[in-house]
Amino acid sequence: MAAPDDVISYFPRDADFATLSEIVEAARAGLPSDVRDFLDGGAGREVTLRRNRQAFERWAYRPRIMTGIGAPDLATSFLGVPLGLPILTAPFGADGLFHPEGHCAVARANAAEGVASIVPEAGTHAVEAVAAAAPVAARIAQIHPMGRPANFAAMLRRIEDAGYGAVCVTVDCPTVGWREGTRHNRFDPDPAVLTGNYPVGGPVALDEVFGQLFTRTEPDWTWAELSERMAATRLPWMAKGVLTAEAASAAVDAGASAVLVSNHGGRQLDGAPAALEQLPEVAAAIAGRAQIALDSGIRSGTDVVTALALGADAVVIGRLAAYGLAAAGEAGVRRIHQLLRDEMHTVLTLLGAGSVRDLGPDFLQKVQP
Ligand SMILES: Cc1cc2nc3c(=O)[nH]c(=O)nc-3n(C[C@H](O)[C@H](O)[C@H](O)COP(=O)(O)O)c2cc1C
Repeated sequence: MAAPDDVISYFPRDADFATLSEIVEAARAGLPSDVRDFLDGGAGREVTLRRNRQAFERWAYRPRIMTGIGAPDLATSFLGVPLGLPILTAPFGADGLFHPEGHCAVARANAAEGVASIVPEAGTHAVEAVAAAAPVAARIAQIHPMGRPANFAAMLRRIEDAGYGAVCVTVDCPTVGWREGTRHNRFDPDPAVLTGNYPVGGPVALDEVFGQLFTRTEPDWTWAELSERMAATRLPWMAKGVLTAEAASAAVDAGASAVLVSNHGGRQLDGAPAALEQLPEVAAAIAGRAQIALDSGIRSGTDVVTALALGADAVVIGRLAAYGLAAAGEAGVRRIHQLLRDEMHTVLTLLGAGSVRDLGPDFLQKVQP
């Protein structure tokens, strides 16, 4: 039963991946086992990694039926970036481990599907290279608040000069989380996968910027310093890694235009609550003063809808995008977005929601998992 391309068919009709799980399995099957563990894994005993998934099962939908709504509208905007889908791809570093084109391929896939990239500072390709690969999609660049202020300021200027429209500051990573899996594997990737922005022999050495992450040096940045240093750019910025009302308010007071509710996909502080669990608390504290995104545990279009109903304006996908990249490069990431889009379309239709912007807590009720 063939259908035109713009109609979602119940009957998958080609050899392409028909489900997100097929993409994840293809990616996992093709990666060396230590790279697969690095991608899949979390910190400590992976309690937070598991919580991220369990949290979604504590919410059930309250569908509105016979509403007469037409096709649901999935478009929105975030940090001034127009989005065809309420989705951004996460700044996952070391992307060359999954595919040589890394975030350049992700950005091209995003441009084709109405998704925006958050491009990592610790990536395989420089921010300038990713922007050149897909200027429309590569709109947000991620940066770590650490190291010498002069280096930080120089990186901010590079982000501006490369045409990015916003900055994402990762505030939950003063040092790298205690990752049992990578320790057990003695995982020691080629540093080249991290040095896109700081090539060997360039003006700034990688250790000067990220040394603190790996040597466990005491963190020395505060909200006040971050605020002062971000005042040097005219670009709006988002604080990534907010889990509490206190942190959300501090971020907004420091000048953030958005917060990303995130526990880094369970890769940083094991024992932290699920990001989804914290979303209502953060949304209440923000009270409309900034936009809100959520990551950590998004694995389906249904999950996206739940996060938006709980107060997120958009979601960020980390591992899902990386699996797409590992499975089939640019085409794999595109397929991830297409399947998320089609599933969201179905879920919104069944839920009786006309637009992603109409979603709210009225569409949900708490249940025992
Ligand atoms: C392989 C990998 C590398 C990552 N590198 C970074 C990074 O350099 N900076 C950062 O802020 N977050 C990093 N993250 C975290 C993601 O940006 C994001 O918060 C997380 O993947 C979201 O959870 P999810 O994977 O369940 O979607 C990384 C995640 C993965 C899986």
